[in-house]
Amino acid sequence: MNFHLVSIFPQYFESPLSSGLMGKAVETGLVSLDHVDVRQFAGGVHKSVDDRPFGGGPGMLLKLDPMIKALDSIDSPGRIMMLSPRGKPLTQARARALSAEEDITLICGRYEGIDERLLDLYPIELVSVGDFVLNGGEAGAVCLVESVARLLPGFMGHEDSGEEESFSAGLLEYPHYTRPDAHEGLKVPAVLRSGDHGKIATWRRECSLTATLNDRPDMLPEASLTVEDIDFLRTLPRTRLGRNLYIALCHYPVVNKFGEKVAVSVTNLDLHDMARVARSYGLGGFYATTPIEDQKAMADTILTHWKQGAGSLANPDRAEAFSKVKVFDDIEAAVLDIEAQTGQCPRLAATSARLDRRKNAEPALTYGDVQSWLANSPVLLIFGTGHGLAEEVLSKTDGVLRPVRYLDDYNHLSVRSAVAIIVDRLVADEY
Ligand SMILES: C[S@@+](CC[C@H](N)C(=O)[O-])C[C@H]1O[C@@H](n2cnc3c(N)ncnc32)[C@H](O)[C@@H]1O
Repeated sequence: MNFHLVSIFPQYFESPLSSGLMGKAVETGLVSLDHVDVRQFAGGVHKSVDDRPFGGGPGMLLKLDPMIKALDSIDSPGRIMMLSPRGKPLTQARARALSAEEDITLICGRYEGIDERLLDLYPIELVSVGDFVLNGGEAGAVCLVESVARLLPGFMGHEDSGEEESFSAGLLEYPHYTRPDAHEGLKVPAVLRSGDHGKIATWRRECSLTATLNDRPDMLPEASLTVEDIDFLRTLPRTRLGRNLYIALCHYPVVNKFGEKVAVSVTNLDLHDMARVARSYGLGGFYATTPIEDQKAMADTILTHWKQGAGSLANPDRAEAFSKVKVFDDIEAAVLDIEAQTGQCPRLAATSARLDRRKNAEPALTYGDVQSWLANSPVLLIFGTGHGLAEEVLSKTDGVLRPVRYLDDYNHLSVRSAVAIIVDRLVADEY
């Protein structure tokens, strides 16, 4: 496999790509490295490769002409890729796909990057090695060359090494140990010395599952999991962000379609469906708020029926869901109740189907914002009935969450659907 490394610092690659197995692969001809020094293609006495960007701004840019000449000097460039923080991420799956190529050309930027027109002239794929900024593409190119080359048949000596590693099966890898079997009292897990290959495989799978749940729960939705895997994951302790999340359905003050302040009736369906979401996601609680006495009385009748009455006997699951529900006059009362339970004042996040177009409005809260609050304190997420929460409720919150389907015109979900979607995005299956 041939890598064509296009860079203004070809010497950068000397040590990393000549050490260990990579050096051996180059020596045996499994991998060839073609260093294309961009500076050799620069004109003028100074062989300058960079210039100032149009439009101002800090830093310099790599010029087009030497880059074009450098790329045109490569006889068979194969797939042309440019290291860039703007690129799609380099993943194990991408590395595996690239390992089937004969030639790969890697363009390494420096300074502020490269004149954008290079992308119009060649079919260049951008590739990023992570959400951070390096001084140049060379370090990223080394990552790409190593991750791809080590998947070539013959690179590692024993072919299954690449299959067992982190990311290959959508999970992080299990831990490894070597001699001595005891170091200052620290012993190698006994199962690894048992000679029982079945038990060793189970132990390793369980370690992979545990490491992934603890350190990269975001990988689990895409991991291929057996029923046994899921049964094992269920036994592990989890962060349970949901415990800190409380939801409220506000029936007053909300607005009607004319923007007027109104009260909306409590509905049986909202109480049932939001209670079931609260129980399924392990939330701290669900508050239905209304100051209207007959509405509170009706909600109490429903709650009593399902928690203690005939409903609880007919359907104990529903009684469990309704144990999460409390009916209060207003959001302030819900806040006091959370404070009394947790000893902490909750952060308040409002929800809305509309973008906040008020002048000087803060940018909407992201799911990440609310998740980071949940890690440290209770959060009350407030949903509105009617045409949404009144300004006097919105203004008392710490922010408004970005609407569901914010890129489309039509996002008129029932409040029950919005609750299910938003709670799932915040808490998901893994937390
Ligand atoms: C200082 S960076 C330029 C960053 C650029 N101004 C930006 O904000 O996207 C210089 C060069 O380093 C490389 N580089 C930096 N961070 C990278 C990353 N995370 N992945 C891949 N290449 C990266 C790219 O080749 C880039 O052109």
